[in-house]
Amino acid sequence: MSALRFLLLVLWPSSSFCNGSPVLTRVSPAASHSERMAAARILLDNSPLIDGHNDLPWNLRMFLHNKLHSFNFSADLQKEKPWRAQSFSQTDLPRLKKGKVAAQFWSIYVPCEAQYLNTVQLLLEQVDVIKRMIAAHQKETIMVTDTSGILREFHRGRLASLMGMEGGHALGSSMGVVRSLYDLGVRYITLTHKCHTPWAECADKTKDQPNSPGLTPYGKKLVLEMNRLGMMVDLSHSSSQTVLDVLSITRAPVIFSHSGVRKICPINRNVEDSILKQMPENGGVVLISFYNEFLTCSKYANITNVIEHINHVRNIAGVDHVGIGAGYDGINRTPIGLDDVSYYPELFTELLKDPSWSLQDLKKLAGVNLMRVMDKVQEIREDLMSESPGEDIIPIHDIDSRWPCRYKFASLEEDIA
Ligand SMILES: *[C@@H]1O[C@H](CO)[C@@H](O)[C@H](O)[C@H]1NC(C)=O
Ligand SMILES: *[C@@H]1O[C@H](CO)[C@@H](O)[C@H](O)[C@H]1NC(C)=O
Repeated sequence: MSALRFLLLVLWPSSSFCNGSPVLTRVSPAASHSERMAAARILLDNSPLIDGHNDLPWNLRMFLHNKLHSFNFSADLQKEKPWRAQSFSQTDLPRLKKGKVAAQFWSIYVPCEAQYLNTVQLLLEQVDVIKRMIAAHQKETIMVTDTSGILREFHRGRLASLMGMEGGHALGSSMGVVRSLYDLGVRYITLTHKCHTPWAECADKTKDQPNSPGLTPYGKKLVLEMNRLGMMVDLSHSSSQTVLDVLSITRAPVIFSHSGVRKICPINRNVEDSILKQMPENGGVVLISFYNEFLTCSKYANITNVIEHINHVRNIAGVDHVGIGAGYDGINRTPIGLDDVSYYPELFTELLKDPSWSLQDLKKLAGVNLMRVMDKVQEIREDLMSESPGEDIIPIHDIDSRWPCRYKFASLEEDIA
């Protein structure tokens, strides 16, 4: 195809420009890979790509003990020690730029092994390391907390960084901790990781829990407090019962920050169709993980498998309820063709082969859906402004024997025992 014909395909009308960017029209599904790639890149110049989950901050802990003096996020980490030898390393600023990522949620991850120990300290240290990493690279990225920040930075060409906290076991079951995280700029909380909290059941160990406790009454109060605050509730890792319990009480749309579809890969960690069907009513979004084990239940996966999961969510929940939460840097096996954060345009290049994906729908997948959820959660925060902060304390019998090493307020514990 001649260059002129190609231009006519991607520019419309050829003299029309929006903010200096070419206006994209539909590229022919039969177009070559390089033509579709050019179109995918224009698409992501026009509408922001937002990824819901990246575990780089935990790697800063594991590989560098959070010492950033020798960490250069602007460098090609594929060439740098210790990153180049790590199968869990897929992220750096040059590759995020190449991948056309407009906004990234960085995960504040705390291991389940720390539950009932020093989780609150660990999570604060992860907030600190994220903030220091960003402060050291302000030309390229900056912390934002809402969609207006994402859009402002998108138009400036700087990566918008956001924070999500994984998971609820690190909160010490405390509403005060949830509120403090919001004040620090954290905008979602994953209710569980791979362990049950005293108030929510996780997916990964549901076999241990034949009675499927889901969310306890105190867990429900925590969710309502997150709604009041404008903290998004993330249900990746939660058991199906926990998800159903949240959906029955939440006043705001939920997210799944990095999940797959159970119909395709039947593991507890993936989302069931019955839950996908509830997404239109809730208004939430399922962000698809790129972890091979969640995609195919095997060590092998490729772009086609990711698209199968995306299309399944689109078919069951609708195109307004799907997005991307690759989980890079927390996974050690990635689909062929989506090896690291520089490869997102390949996904859109592949989707452009499918005429059932309109440009509008591809923008929704890239980030418009997640921004709609963020705006709605913010709007509900404003609606609930007159409500008083939750002051409930977890019932002592929900935690007592499991948390012996804590300060005990004698009279209070008698009151609530
Ligand atoms: C970080 O890496 C970039 C890109 O290689 C380089 O230009 C810059 O000088 C490095 N910064 C430091 C402090 O080494
Ligand atoms: C992905 O792998 C499957 C076989 O498992 C194959 O049919 C498909 O064409 C592959 N997709 C790509 C984009 O290579």
